[in-house]
Amino acid sequence: MITASAPGKIILFGEHAVVYGRPAIAVPVTQVQAQVSIEPGSDELTIHATDEGRTYSYSDIDAQHPIATIIRLTLEALHQSPPPNATLTIRSTIPIASGLGSGAAVSTAIARALAQFYGCELATATVSELVYQVEKIHHGTPSGIDNTVIAYAQPVYFVRGQRLETFTVPKPFKIAIGDTGIASPTRIAVGDVRAAWQADPVRLETLFDRCGRIADQARALIENGQPEALGPLMTENQELLAQMTVSSLELEALIQTALKGGALGAKLSGGGRGGNMIALITDAREATVREALLNAGAKRVIVTTVGANAQ
Ligand code: MEV
Repeated sequence: MITASAPGKIILFGEHAVVYGRPAIAVPVTQVQAQVSIEPGSDELTIHATDEGRTYSYSDIDAQHPIATIIRLTLEALHQSPPPNATLTIRSTIPIASGLGSGAAVSTAIARALAQFYGCELATATVSELVYQVEKIHHGTPSGIDNTVIAYAQPVYFVRGQRLETFTVPKPFKIAIGDTGIASPTRIAVGDVRAAWQADPVRLETLFDRCGRIADQARALIENGQPEALGPLMTENQELLAQMTVSSLELEALIQTALKGGALGAKLSGGGRGGNMIALITDAREATVREALLNAGAKRVIVTTVGANAQ
């Protein structure tokens, strides 16, 4: 049996503006994972999606379905045809439509598992590109940051169309991720920001510029070992995202709760409108912020340490 996995992700700074060419920073979240296993069999390729509690045969899935798409693209990249006789099982602990990259992680794990099944290596850049093709079909105009951070599984400084830059985190820091429990497809929020940009390009470009500058300042602080100084930048980024209309009452409530509980800064993460917010926390405040978020209605709180693997 072959098994491959991929982490979730959060965007620390620069979501939405990244679609318009500004820099953004994203990090993997290894506490949540998509895992795909492939077991050879005698029947045609069968997909067992444990989350959905469904089993279906590859030949029956709509060709536009993300799972069908990543399988087809990966088989093409591996020069394999027809599909293997096997059962492909998908398990994921990444909440869907919450800004944690569940779709991109499932696609990444499928591509890697299929490559292993055929005894091939797919370069990380190739996996990322295949997943990007799937994201394009389903997300409209994705920047490519989600597939990149998930395929590379490292902190990334991402500018659309430019060579990827990863960076080091000399001093690890903790982020609490609070889930509003409101499913919010990225495609909708991205489409609404596009409509706002079309209606008033000057105003939106100014907001995007400010987000881009924040991402640059944040990277410098992280690389200089001053992550505790990121708080005000998060809060400033949140104000800009609210002006882009992608915040929500539920996100604002959790953000204010985290700040009152002693977080150093907080913002939404990902597409917005629902999904997750993130807060920069100290060890001393971790338990207080976690409890406050849960009491305020967060469906789940995950605490992740950025840079933990770099130590
Ligand atoms: C979604 O995780 C991040 C957005 O910036 C969309 C994208 O970059 O494709 C909202």
